[in-house]
Amino acid sequence: MLKQQYEAEIQQLLSQMTIEEKAGQLNQCGPSLAGAFDVDFEELLNMVCDGRVSKEKFQKMMASAEQDYHEEALRAGHIGSYNGVSDAETANRLQRIAVEETRLGIPLLFGYDVIHGYRTVTPIPLAESCAWDERLWEETARMSAKEATAGGVHMTFAPMVDVSRDPRWGRISEGAGEDVLINSLYGRAKVKGFQGEDLTRADAMAACVKHFAAYGAVEAGRDYNRVDMSGQKLYEEYLPPFEACVKAGARAVMPAFNDINGVPCTVNEKLLRDILRKQWGFDGMTISDANAIAECVNHGCAADNADAARQALLAGVDMDMTSGVYSRHLKDLIDKGQLNEQELDRAAANVLRIKFELGLFDNPYQASKEREKREMLTGKHRELARTAAEKSIVLLKNEGVLPFSRKQKIGIVGELAAQAGEMTGTWALRAVESDCVSIIDACESQNIDYVYSPGKDEREFREMAKTCDVFLAAVGEYKRESGEASSRGEIALKADDMKMLETLQRLGKPAAAVIFSGRPLAIPWLSENIPAILEAWHPGVEAGNAILNIVFGEVNPSAKLTAAFPYSSGQCPLYYAHINTGRPAGKSKFTSKYLDIPTEPVYPFGYGLSYTTYEYKNLDIQEKGSFIQISVRVKNTGKRRGEEIVQCYVHDTVAKRARPVKQLAGFQKTSLQPGEEKTITFEIEKDKLGYYDEKMQYLVEEGVFEFFVGGNSRDCLMEKIEITE
Ligand code: GLC
Repeated sequence: MLKQQYEAEIQQLLSQMTIEEKAGQLNQCGPSLAGAFDVDFEELLNMVCDGRVSKEKFQKMMASAEQDYHEEALRAGHIGSYNGVSDAETANRLQRIAVEETRLGIPLLFGYDVIHGYRTVTPIPLAESCAWDERLWEETARMSAKEATAGGVHMTFAPMVDVSRDPRWGRISEGAGEDVLINSLYGRAKVKGFQGEDLTRADAMAACVKHFAAYGAVEAGRDYNRVDMSGQKLYEEYLPPFEACVKAGARAVMPAFNDINGVPCTVNEKLLRDILRKQWGFDGMTISDANAIAECVNHGCAADNADAARQALLAGVDMDMTSGVYSRHLKDLIDKGQLNEQELDRAAANVLRIKFELGLFDNPYQASKEREKREMLTGKHRELARTAAEKSIVLLKNEGVLPFSRKQKIGIVGELAAQAGEMTGTWALRAVESDCVSIIDACESQNIDYVYSPGKDEREFREMAKTCDVFLAAVGEYKRESGEASSRGEIALKADDMKMLETLQRLGKPAAAVIFSGRPLAIPWLSENIPAILEAWHPGVEAGNAILNIVFGEVNPSAKLTAAFPYSSGQCPLYYAHINTGRPAGKSKFTSKYLDIPTEPVYPFGYGLSYTTYEYKNLDIQEKGSFIQISVRVKNTGKRRGEEIVQCYVHDTVAKRARPVKQLAGFQKTSLQPGEEKTITFEIEKDKLGYYDEKMQYLVEEGVFEFFVGGNSRDCLMEKIEITE
């Protein structure tokens, strides 16, 4: 159906809809039932406590709530969407009620968190971002869309593109790390992968980019905490990834839980109307985060749920995720003249529009049990998940230990080496533990000569050392320790891990550590005392196979960190694109540094090793009209083919507002045979080198710019150029 056709259909539908039906379209029910009840959950509980509702009645309600209340509310036209439906049978059952048993037959929209894979769980986003590979990012998104839509999903609450520079924040796992450009390109690729070329196709799903905005800057890295920042920082460092996703055609946006400078994103008109719609031209749908509208009362910005509902609708939140306040209060607000119906029409039109764009009016039953059987966890999907993991695992250190030989006997220690279920990380809602391959599973299936120990008993360790040639130690985090509501004040390795590693070090055998984590960890001792270190993150269903392919050298690691590894929590937030200050850290006492820890990270942004080595030379900078051309020679000086991620950074040396000492301006991933060398060229548009002045005017100034090129953000060649126009 063409756009102008469905715009007319939307107006036609709105003219027929009652206020309750319009409010119903804005109501998304979730796993919790608040959205389905026609009463406020707290009111309901009060009614039980003061006896107005008997305990028996309440228990019956609870027992049948899932079925009766949902369906009753659904038939009455009070529900427009569900969050959490993810199997074809349920999806089609609920859809049939909506289409065939409601007055207007408006189809439901099914949203779900498809963050890093669906049934074929891929590496967590922070891991996959370390591949610096737009094609891979799009491919894995396309795969997850094929699987998720078979199960009835129409919209995923992804990509998450929150720039995050504080690994204490558990949700650093869900995005693409600390850099603006990486998050922008990652988000754009994911939007394209999820939505494909034609959103009406049964295997396409709408991307709902989140969390808009600056959620990654929560104070003290504590989830759901406040955010306070200048407009310049917001515009230069936190908004660009969202703009990139909107420009890529994302059809939905989710405002974040946090406030920005005291105004919750959920009721932030400047964010949701001025920036998102007026400045960026976004014409899709917005949906609150879970219960976030009601939580504006907790923020202290709404007197009660009705006030929160009014403010959120006026600010530009179209759909209410699971708080139920739109369904319960909008009609009343309109009847009392506290809200005009046009506001409701505008939001309902946005909801109806995404349903037309998804082809749901023409084909409401897109979920398919047959496709569920055919699409899930195919051999090709597993292979892609393994490739994604191999491209995401970062070699942080290697002093002549890796790769091991498959002829060696390998001692494997640490519980995480055997816990397949921990490999899927946070936000893998459809993960099945038996699908996952642990390191031990891979050793078994590949007939590796190994001995395993959980690593708690030193005697057992010493016994192993008598026969094992090399050791592999699995340390780090369980999946429950990262993701939402999982901030950590201390991001060091746990005591058990440290004890195991210290024992390993004393054994004096060639040893490598594999870190499983949802965040950069503070690993100063490990970086000094264990000769080889791999950061495997939570690498998904093919974890064990990918890790062994790297450990035994079939795959040459190429990943580079997209978030720095701090020396300790005390350094957080920590990021490479910092400004210099008037007293940059130096030898003198009176410079910006700590008494007890270094100022530098253990491993910086952009860092990652290979089994080969690379040499950079002949950096050349040329001004070419509207852009600057940067070229460099890169040579593979080692003995095996490798892929190098060549990074280009820029520094505006003098400006009205201090500029970051480096900002990633571009990168290229290039494959080089041993001895091969190539010229890598970047073209950076001058108008991208600007910044916002104190009046929020975007300035592109003349002056001296430094350009850095290298294999990470620290070790670079540098040349300067005077830009005069
Ligand atoms: C959660 C998260 C959000 C997710 C939503 C729906 O609270 O903040 O990222 O998409 O609820 O599950």
